[in-house]
Amino acid sequence: MSTKKRPGGPRSAQWFGRQDIYGFIYRSWVKNRGVPQDQFDGRPVIGICNTYSELTPCNSHFRTIAEHVKNGVLEAGGFPLEFPVMSLGETLLRPTAMLYRNLASMDVEESIRGNPLDGVVLLAGCDKTTPATLMGAASVDLPTILVSGGPMLSGKYQGKDIGSGTNTWSMSEDLRAGKLTLHEFHEAESCMHRSHGHCMTMGTASTMASMAEALGVGMPGNAAFPAVDARRNVIARMAGRRIVELVKEKVPLSKILTRQAFENAIRALAAIGGSTNAVIHLIAIARRIGVDLKLTDFDRLGRGVHTLVNLMPAGQYLMEDFCYAGGLPAVLRELGDNKLLHKDALTVNGKTIWENNREAPCHNRDVIFPFAKPFKKNTGIAVLRGNLCPGGAIIKPSAATPKLMRHKGRAVVFENIEDFHKRIDDPNLDIDEKCVMVLKNCGPKGYPGMAEVGNMPLAPKILKRGITDMVRISDARMSGTAYGTVILHIVPEAAAGGALALVENGDVIELDVEKRRLHLNVSDKELKRRRARWKAPKPHLGRGYWPLYHEHVLQADEGADLDFLVGSSGALVPRDNH
Ligand code: FES
Repeated sequence: MSTKKRPGGPRSAQWFGRQDIYGFIYRSWVKNRGVPQDQFDGRPVIGICNTYSELTPCNSHFRTIAEHVKNGVLEAGGFPLEFPVMSLGETLLRPTAMLYRNLASMDVEESIRGNPLDGVVLLAGCDKTTPATLMGAASVDLPTILVSGGPMLSGKYQGKDIGSGTNTWSMSEDLRAGKLTLHEFHEAESCMHRSHGHCMTMGTASTMASMAEALGVGMPGNAAFPAVDARRNVIARMAGRRIVELVKEKVPLSKILTRQAFENAIRALAAIGGSTNAVIHLIAIARRIGVDLKLTDFDRLGRGVHTLVNLMPAGQYLMEDFCYAGGLPAVLRELGDNKLLHKDALTVNGKTIWENNREAPCHNRDVIFPFAKPFKKNTGIAVLRGNLCPGGAIIKPSAATPKLMRHKGRAVVFENIEDFHKRIDDPNLDIDEKCVMVLKNCGPKGYPGMAEVGNMPLAPKILKRGITDMVRISDARMSGTAYGTVILHIVPEAAAGGALALVENGDVIELDVEKRRLHLNVSDKELKRRRARWKAPKPHLGRGYWPLYHEHVLQADEGADLDFLVGSSGALVPRDNH
């Protein structure tokens, strides 16, 4: 091991600029695939962090995108090096991709820091791949651009648009209610996902791609171009060119991911009617880069912001329509025109957010509404408090039923997800539409990984009466494609000893979203008595990552990161490897 004779210049010169045995080792093995000597002349070395995997169907076209990034890097005089990281697919990975978001972020962080990279382009698509790559990159803080893989084309079934997730839930309910045959259900599977790309509703993937654009870490247009649109590849190529310049200009990620950028993202989240998952992810990313984002920031900044975008699950259209209508630039322009944007926030293309978007056109006011006549009014994420959630809980008003926003009902309690599945179809289940459905032990520690099960399907006997929404409460998350009057992310979660663990069948629960209140109508004395009997559930697996996660995961209000991952270690590697 030696740390002597280290050259100056770019970070990668600490590897490739060495004229000793270490330089020989660092260069020689890279040359084995035909890299000429002139690539080691101090030019920026750009990592392409690829979350391609056949196990992540939403990211299955990422090899092509990576080639376009590479071309851009080469055109700008950089040296591209692509590397794989753990990929998280929402549809196949059990028990939930969220369990592994922090693990994937560690992979990203250590892969970037440990290698001879001066800048990095992150390729992300399916839900968790965006926060995981951004969290990891934030903890290193090199110049960074995120390129999203883009949404799929609109689903088409029997002449109608169908959206990922949103129509999966509704068709599943129709099947259970006997309104759809099994044959039709199977046919719809083939019609829903018919191109490369991620979910084409305003679910978590589209939301996080929009967040990347609003944060300024994605190029303008990043959120909406479909995966198969040629302009998606152009964005990738331009990102490849631009990252080389960002390295030369010495613009680390922390110059982009400022508090102003996060505040812009929070308002954009409200304006697009975006996924509740973004709350957890934005907090986690912010805490990696040193911005102390809090749950209350979402309520404070989201107040007075209206939903402008008429997309499923809150509305009618899909991402392809959003793209043709003008995409996120048209939304950001509306926010800027209404004093709801920090206009000076810097973005990765070297311009401010306002320079990028101030003249963005809107081509369809049925898809992107003007702020003065919004699609839905005052729909920022609401943060609730009360004895059931002293650390907070959230609800997405744009996806909820207005008349249920103030509600009082009898609790029907499910102790865990297995209990729910066992009892929900039972015709003798004591439930009616005024009840409040309560699901426990689905939070970060409890599931583990805080699964997307908070939007519990309703009981068949209720669905058959044409009722499609009820108040539902849990410590779980819900898919960004889901909808309903669903209260999520209760802190503390049941498995951490929160009051949620103490709710019993028949207890009365009061919800008042306007007053930001969620209250369990049970006396403190009775809760104390119940708490004395409560036992913490045991973690499911005794070795490996699961117990590590269980021991260190933070609650939802802190982004559900692992406690030892919060913050940044920078890019310095103090030692050689031999
Ligand atoms: Fe990947 Fe929806 S399953 S984005």
